[in-house]
Amino acid sequence: MERSAIFYFHYLLLSLVIAAANNINTTDQQALLALKARITAKNWTSNTSVCSWIGITCDVSTHRVTALNISDFGLTGTISSQLGNLSSLQTLDLSHNRFSGTIPSSIFSISTLKILILGDNQLSGSFPSFIISNTSSLRAIDCEIPHEIGNLPNLEILGIDENHLVGDVPNTIFNMSALKALSLLNNTLSGSLPSSSKNLIGLPNVERLDLGLNNLSGRIPGFIFNASKLFLVELTGNSFSGFIPDTLVNLRNLEHLGLGYNYLTSSTPELSFLSSLANSSSSKYIVLAENPLNGVLPSSIGNLPITLEEIYLQNCKIRGNIPKEIGNLVNLTTLHLGNNQLSGSIPITVGRLNTLQGLGLESNKLEGPIPDDLCQLVRLSELHLDHNKLSGPIPACFGNLNSLRNLSLGSNELSSFIPSTFWNLNNILSFDFSSNSLNGSLPLDIGNMKVVVEINLSRNYLTGDIPTTIGGLTNLQLLSLENNRLQGPIPESFGELTSLESLDLSVNNLSGVIPISLEKLVYLKDLNLSFNRLKGDIPS
Ligand SMILES: *[C@@H]1O[C@H](CO)[C@@H](O)[C@H](O)[C@H]1NC(C)=O
Ligand SMILES: *[C@@H]1O[C@H](CO)[C@@H](O)[C@H](O)[C@H]1NC(C)=O
Ligand SMILES: *[C@@H]1O[C@H](CO)[C@@H](O)[C@H](O)[C@H]1NC(C)=O
Ligand SMILES: *[C@@H]1O[C@H](CO)[C@@H](O)[C@H](O)[C@H]1NC(C)=O
Ligand SMILES: *[C@@H]1O[C@H](CO)[C@@H](O)[C@H](O)[C@H]1NC(C)=O
Ligand SMILES: *[C@@H]1O[C@H](CO)[C@@H](O)[C@H](O)[C@H]1NC(C)=O
Ligand SMILES: *[C@@H]1O[C@H](CO)[C@@H](O)[C@H](O)[C@H]1NC(C)=O
Ligand SMILES: *[C@@H]1O[C@H](CO)[C@@H](O)[C@H](O)[C@H]1NC(C)=O
Ligand SMILES: *[C@@H]1O[C@H](CO)[C@@H](O)[C@H](O)[C@H]1NC(C)=O
Ligand SMILES: *[C@@H]1O[C@H](CO)[C@@H](O)[C@H](O)[C@H]1NC(C)=O
Ligand SMILES: *[C@@H]1O[C@H](CO)[C@@H](O)[C@H](O)[C@H]1NC(C)=O
Ligand SMILES: *[C@@H]1O[C@H](CO)[C@@H](O)[C@H](O)[C@H]1NC(C)=O
Repeated sequence: MERSAIFYFHYLLLSLVIAAANNINTTDQQALLALKARITAKNWTSNTSVCSWIGITCDVSTHRVTALNISDFGLTGTISSQLGNLSSLQTLDLSHNRFSGTIPSSIFSISTLKILILGDNQLSGSFPSFIISNTSSLRAIDCEIPHEIGNLPNLEILGIDENHLVGDVPNTIFNMSALKALSLLNNTLSGSLPSSSKNLIGLPNVERLDLGLNNLSGRIPGFIFNASKLFLVELTGNSFSGFIPDTLVNLRNLEHLGLGYNYLTSSTPELSFLSSLANSSSSKYIVLAENPLNGVLPSSIGNLPITLEEIYLQNCKIRGNIPKEIGNLVNLTTLHLGNNQLSGSIPITVGRLNTLQGLGLESNKLEGPIPDDLCQLVRLSELHLDHNKLSGPIPACFGNLNSLRNLSLGSNELSSFIPSTFWNLNNILSFDFSSNSLNGSLPLDIGNMKVVVEINLSRNYLTGDIPTTIGGLTNLQLLSLENNRLQGPIPESFGELTSLESLDLSVNNLSGVIPISLEKLVYLKDLNLSFNRLKGDIPS
């Protein structure tokens, strides 16, 4: 007998012996031994029952393997087609390994399969055994999702995230009536979804649908949003176009709607699809950012469920006022409406959103004063109002916003003094008041902002000396005071700003000698002191 034949004979005998001893179906045993031959898995030894191997579950009464979970075993190689012989398998989880090659079609004959998870591998082509010698010249033959996948009548969970899948999502996937979760996140899938439910059962039981971060295009077919059990829809980061389907109204269990970064628009100028979410009574998360919605925010936004926590509508070509009814959504933690064409004033009702942590209204056409009501938002950590036409003073009560980390008010028409209480916000990391008409001088209290990393007060009308206490800001990386009316010397204490990377004091009335202490600023990359009345050399 040839050596390999002898080996095979022993192997067969061994598996028969073990199978007999443990009473496990020999077909299952052989399928796993074939897999073992390709991979190295801890404690998979031929002389013990496969059922005692880590990652294997057997059914004691039927003597069949029911689950194979070798997720995150650090495995490489191809997926053995013999796995298709595990004909009682219910769970197959091969995720978080480095399996390459194609998905063997034999898997699609396992009609008992309920959970199939292949995510985070490198399924990108047939195994290139022919040119192993030079890995840089390997050309992966990209892997498509086989349409036979639709043959799995009992499949409930299908997850093939983060591989290199290309081609269409096969129509047969939308014919899997048992499917509860479909996740194909972060591949390179393209093409469009079936335009109608003709000849397709649809996904009547689907609860999670995640096709985000691919390159799918065309319309989002209405029948997809006709599955009343859906609680998560994630299609962010594709090229979908056309109207957002009005069948959204059927999604009473929807918690998470992610449609951001597509080319979607609204069938009506008042964004009626938004209103249609009013009956999704457990909604928490709506992402529509970066779509040309082209409409106005309806006052019915106030009828959205009170459960809503996060709304992202940046860069959606939204115009008109921010409706005062927004103040009804009292459970919001995040509201982003930046980069639109919103006009009018900031409604005082925003002050009712007292669980808000992030508010972004930047880059709009908002005008009028910043309402004092914002000071009720005591949990606010991010506030972005920059690039609008806001006028009047910075509210004195901003000093109460103790959770503030990042504040941007730049490029508005703000005037008057920076309120003295502002300098007590000792958790603040960055603030940008640049390009306004602020006046007054910088107080000694600036030294209280111990953790601050970025200060931009450029292009205002600040006067007086730069306080020496500024030297206490040892985390400061960026300081820009350019284009003000500051005078006096650059304090010697600047040498203590040891984290400083960028310093711009240009276009002021600073005088005296450039302090030698600046030599201690070893991280300094950008320094601009021009257009002052300074003397001496810039220290090397
Ligand atoms: C293993 O199970 C399969 C499918 O049920 C069956 O066809 C085969 O006869 C079984 N093998 C043994 C040795 O019992
Ligand atoms: C199984 O084989 C391994 C070596 O492959 C050995 O260390 C172990 O003792 C054997 N176990 C049994 C139960 O025979
Ligand atoms: C393999 O590891 C699992 C989990 O640690 C353990 O339950 C099982 O008994 C081990 N099997 C063998 C053959 O050592
Ligand atoms: C597989 O095992 C991993 C690690 O134990 C676990 O996190 C994962 O949920 C399991 N997969 C399935 C489908 O049960
Ligand atoms: C197991 O699967 C392989 C490949 O799919 C097939 O060639 C072989 O006949 C199967 N073996 C058994 C015992 O069913
Ligand atoms: C591998 O192939 C690349 C491109 O074909 C070539 O530049 C490189 O020199 C080759 N490396 C080796 C070790 O042959
Ligand atoms: C998407 O997958 C790539 C690898 O293919 C990875 O680098 C990236 O972090 C993933 N992105 C997300 C958002 O998961
Ligand atoms: C969907 O399933 C139905 C019923 O099983 C079948 O008649 C139809 O041909 C299937 N459609 C596709 C596209 O496979
Ligand atoms: C995405 O698909 C469009 C056509 O629908 C194509 O023009 C574009 O190149 C694709 N982008 C990527 C990254 O594959
Ligand atoms: C949604 O489902 C209902 C009832 O199941 C059906 O009458 C309707 O045609 C479906 N709509 C779409 C767009 O598939
Ligand atoms: C919400 O449900 C109620 C009662 O079922 C219904 O009258 C109303 O029209 C629905 N609202 C929307 C926006 O579909
Ligand atoms: C508000 O959100 C919190 C979690 O942030 C949640 O526990 C609470 O139930 C929500 N309230 C309502 C009315 O949904």
